Amino acid sequence: MRFGIFSDVHANLEALHAVLEAYQEERIDTYICAGDIVGYGANPFECIKKITGLPGVIIVAGNHDWAVVDLVKTDYFNDYAYEAIVWTRRELAGIFDDFLKSLKLYFRVSDLIAVHGTLEYPEKFHYMIDFATAKSNFGMFSQNACFVGHTHSPGFFTKEPGGDISFSRGGEFKIMSGAQYIVNVGSVGQPRDYDSRAAYCVFDTETGEIAIKRVQYDREKARQKIIAAGLPRVLGDRLLTGM
Ligand SMILES: [Fe+2]
Repeated sequence: MRFGIFSDVHANLEALHAVLEAYQEERIDTYICAGDIVGYGANPFECIKKITGLPGVIIVAGNHDWAVVDLVKTDYFNDYAYEAIVWTRRELAGIFDDFLKSLKLYFRVSDLIAVHGTLEYPEKFHYMIDFATAKSNFGMFSQNACFVGHTHSPGFFTKEPGGDISFSRGGEFKIMSGAQYIVNVGSVGQPRDYDSRAAYCVFDTETGEIAIKRVQYDREKARQKIIAAGLPRVLGDRLLTGM
């Protein structure tokens, strides 16, 4: 089975198109979207349509998806993020409220588990950003790999058979017998690791290979749409720097 796992599209249709085109070369059996389809970008409607149209796709909830339908508080959102949520609510006009409310917090099968933030209190959308968080999460799943998003910065934690935990940024690797991994697949539509290309991940359960990949897209077009929509200009500008 080959999984195509991606996250944090954030209503960036240009980046989503580029990633889905790149996936055409990957013989994907099942797509998993690890949350935050909407927020920040100018095409929430089109991105939801596109992603929900992928055959057999599995989608977990992101904090922005739930913020649109009031399932999470927005008082911890920064001003730009909050403004984008208000804009997105208006743009979607309630059309996808039932869909957004129906999203589950995590997805679990024998080969993997996927969640937007962390497995510990997934409804609180904490960030998988340090060794202490990774360590407590490693105690919460038995599969070889847990896939996350939310930080917009790809990389993976490895828990060696002896229990040592290390971190590595991006790239490709093969599952080691007895080891476990927490893989952050990065962001399709708003990368924040100073690499402005869209990020996506492929997991082949037969070979045990996991690859975090990047693809160029028309950033300027996505930026112009954000500005034309009246969204905060900074949300478009940051697409050019990947931060
Ligand atoms: Fe996000």
